[in-house]
Amino acid sequence: MTPVTETTLALKLTDRINRIEPSATLAVVNEAEKLRQQGIDVVDFGAGEPHFATPQHIKDAAIAAIQGNFTKYTAVGGTAELRDAIVHRHAVDFDSDYRREEAIASVGGKHAIFNAIQVLVDHGDEVILPVPYWVSFKDIVRYAGGDSVLLEADEDQGFRVTAKMIDRLVTPRTKLIILNSPCNPSGAVMSPDDMAEVVRFAHERGIWVMSDECYVYLNYTDKRFSVGALRESRERMVIVGSLSKTYAMTGWRLGYALAPAPVVTAMQKLQSQSTSNPTSIVQKAAVAALRGPQQCVTEMRAEYITLRDHVIKGLRSIPGIKCTMPEGAFYAYPNIGASLGRSGISSASELAGRLLREEHVATVPGEGFGTRDHIRVSYATSVAELDRGLERLRKFLASL
Ligand SMILES: Cc1ncc(COP(=O)(O)O)c(C=O)c1O
Repeated sequence: MTPVTETTLALKLTDRINRIEPSATLAVVNEAEKLRQQGIDVVDFGAGEPHFATPQHIKDAAIAAIQGNFTKYTAVGGTAELRDAIVHRHAVDFDSDYRREEAIASVGGKHAIFNAIQVLVDHGDEVILPVPYWVSFKDIVRYAGGDSVLLEADEDQGFRVTAKMIDRLVTPRTKLIILNSPCNPSGAVMSPDDMAEVVRFAHERGIWVMSDECYVYLNYTDKRFSVGALRESRERMVIVGSLSKTYAMTGWRLGYALAPAPVVTAMQKLQSQSTSNPTSIVQKAAVAALRGPQQCVTEMRAEYITLRDHVIKGLRSIPGIKCTMPEGAFYAYPNIGASLGRSGISSASELAGRLLREEHVATVPGEGFGTRDHIRVSYATSVAELDRGLERLRKFLASL
């Protein structure tokens, strides 16, 4: 029998699966994990997740759900209790006024983004995507058959995206504009005025805006903002949120979207034919997170600011590194361009690969985020771990 190789198999797979690549961030996590299994002490700046444990009252709610046998299927888009909690939290924190029918719970924010894009983007549609972008946007758009129109943010302006920059890229084929503020990987935050301006002109021209607000609680400026506050323009707006980063719940997989009811219904239809509901137990935990005390969010945010200041100071002290000041999320996005061309290293991927293999520091190369001269450093870890990693990075760059 002829053995099935990747090449023979690829011929049989669909065009749509062959259009996309595996997530670059998950690839790094896997490689670092392999080294760890060999007993190697890896400093992990790769993972895009909080280092905090999930708060106790959230864990307790999940345990109570199991004990109370809340373990059956639920409504596909989440229980009424959860959808009401999502709407309530958003209204209190961001002055939005969504109804239950305009909310859907999904298996993580990524799932909500995937479903929203499959529902809104058709073959040949253009999607405006600021660069650097979170790894999955481009592939999800491609999977739907759309074309990403990339908007290069200016590093000298801290990668901040403005309404004017987006406006210039609009064509008759523009179907969707993706905003992600605070941004993964740059940590850039758009001003509320710019976000409002994008939503306003998109609304006027019948273009959809998807605002990925997974890091909305980790905004370190004094202007925390969601486009949900722009109530009168929400006809063409999809907000994506997640409990992953806000409540240190990455493994639980609970995200949501707030959107006009017909979009939510279409997303539910897609969800009904794929995952069905997010885990029932997790939904109970999510209600506890959203309705319970929010002090944990404030405390984690304060800690991230301390870590941000520490890592940026450390990175900027390393010869050959330039680094913008992130205003949100928990990533630094240092420019390592000065080291390219040295010791046979020609790309950020090669640099990150050698940094991992030689100094055992995991980072994510910029190519996955659409830029060539950067690596992403996640600072969701302890100060001691940051110092260990920074020292290794300093040594590695000096050796080139
Ligand atoms: C910008 C952005 N959006 C969405 C997600 C999805 O997160 P989750 O699926 O865990 O909710 C992530 C996760 O890293 C992210 O960085």
